Amino acid sequence: MSKHGAEQQITVKTLQKRKASGEKISMITCYDAAFAALLDRTGIDMILVGDSLGNVVLGFKDTIPVTMEHMVHHTAAVGRVVQHAMLVADMPFLSYNLSNEQALRNAGRLVQEAGAHAVKLEGGKSVCPQIKAIVQAGIPVVGHLGLTPQSVHALGGYKVQGRGDEAKKLIEDAKALEEAGVCAVVLELIPQPLAEEVTNALHVPTIGIGAGSGTDGQVLVLHDMLGFNSEFSPKFLKKYANLGETVVESVKRYDAEVKAGSFPGPEHSFSS
Ligand code: KIV
Repeated sequence: MSKHGAEQQITVKTLQKRKASGEKISMITCYDAAFAALLDRTGIDMILVGDSLGNVVLGFKDTIPVTMEHMVHHTAAVGRVVQHAMLVADMPFLSYNLSNEQALRNAGRLVQEAGAHAVKLEGGKSVCPQIKAIVQAGIPVVGHLGLTPQSVHALGGYKVQGRGDEAKKLIEDAKALEEAGVCAVVLELIPQPLAEEVTNALHVPTIGIGAGSGTDGQVLVLHDMLGFNSEFSPKFLKKYANLGETVVESVKRYDAEVKAGSFPGPEHSFSS
């Protein structure tokens, strides 16, 4: 048991065992040490420093402006405190597409400088050479198929993928990723039956977001599931809290008390 009372560190071996036993895998995104310390007490299996960092935390409108420097900085913050969960870091836009050497160098930074246990990158057959190069260097890789947000402009928006003729290609891509050596595949925003077909076709676990209940695991974006943004409510998202409202209400009360002179009271002040 770790100091948090949770099972020891989750690794690629744990993922293989879960696939074999059918026990589900839980994953959630995180971008800073404060949340990471809380998440690591929950028993969550995998923490993803997603490039959703861009829109969730850094105020960009999508993930495309996210750089290696952003990813190293935020992964390192999470990596300093995580002891139980397997820590996966996203490789940002154009940090792996230029060459195998570029991909390996940047994957290496996320592991060596930031403490990631694995990296995740988007795409199918076309990124398999890069995946092989990274895996051969001893770095576990998580694949990502379906809606791949770094290609949002090519996909024409954030739409469900893999319908009709696209399904066959997605299954072939998933098999190619497995062949290239990935330890898991994220399936984002695809129909449940297709996600089940991919899950049954692979020996490595699938982790779904907007892919229904038939995958080997699930991932959600932390701030979305905590209800930071009341206006963001896609069909696949379950909100487990309404923290956005809690923050606004709490800070409004603080603001009012400061302006009314009722905070700090004697109980928050020191005598001479
Ligand atoms: O960047 C991210 O948060 C992700 C998840 C949505 C899987 O890739």
